[in-house]
Amino acid sequence: MFTSNPFAALSASIPTAYMQGYIVVMFLLVMGGTILDMLHKKSAQYFFANAKKAQKSAKRSVGGGEKVAIATSVLVKEVLTSGEFDNPRRRLSHLLTMWGTIIFIMTTAIMIFCYPTPATPTPTLLPQLWHIGALMLAVGGYWFWFAIRVDVAAEGLSWFRLERADLFILSLLATSTFALAWSFTGGGLTVFFALFILSSTVLFGGVYWSKFAHMFFKPAAAYQKKVIMADGGRENLPPDYDLTDPEVQRKFPDIPTYMGKNPPNMGLCIKAERANHY
Ligand code: HEM
Repeated sequence: MFTSNPFAALSASIPTAYMQGYIVVMFLLVMGGTILDMLHKKSAQYFFANAKKAQKSAKRSVGGGEKVAIATSVLVKEVLTSGEFDNPRRRLSHLLTMWGTIIFIMTTAIMIFCYPTPATPTPTLLPQLWHIGALMLAVGGYWFWFAIRVDVAAEGLSWFRLERADLFILSLLATSTFALAWSFTGGGLTVFFALFILSSTVLFGGVYWSKFAHMFFKPAAAYQKKVIMADGGRENLPPDYDLTDPEVQRKFPDIPTYMGKNPPNMGLCIKAERANHY
């Protein structure tokens, strides 16, 4: 079961062209949903206006080579390794969810387009990766849903409280769960297959209403944030002062009065304790 392509077996009941057409329609829905989301929230407009405004506070200009280095670091840190998450549990859960989704979607598309029928035998690695991707997504996603979500982990609300923003994670979970259930019960035209298609249609068709498009917006935001730090603009935030530095103490003479000559570095207050005030 782990080694056979469930879509090739399905080609006896559903014409290959329908399956391929479905993938194309889902791809178009994601593109359309993302564009509508951008128009509705005016996020692109805000993004460029904000970048222009930030440029006014720049202390130096960031060259082309430096911009390439920043883009590379965003790709390696924020995109590929979920480096924006400081909390290791959230990071690991996001890595499982993200890579699980990518592996699951890529192998689905490859199996449906390149190995659509038993006449073109599927390399066993593909269905294996398809199952592994769905499992990674399910493990990372259920972990997030039951234990990591802010509502549940920090605010103590019950895990079954639903909001529209949960459409993304829930449709991801439903898609992976029903895909696995469909495969484990032998594939074919079954109730699990219908639920798998229903949940994946909600996942890809619901981009406009869900958090799906964050995977495109977050890298742009991370890049912009790093450029602002590199050009010294810092969104007009004060620099990170070292309070023990005599130069800083000369600039702010009341520091020794309140904190002594050698003020301790107390770190970020947000990290002082776990957020669980409910
Ligand atoms: C296949 C790709 C991805 C999947 C499946 C995915 C999945 C998720 C999920 C399920 C959440 C929790 C959302 C919720 O609160 O309901 C999340 C949050 C987050 N993701 Fe992703 N993600 C993907 C790609 C990315 C990429 C490329 C980035 C950054 C470059 C990113 C950055 C974030 C951040 C910073 C959060 C937390 C902030 C927030 O909830 O808005 N994700 N992601």
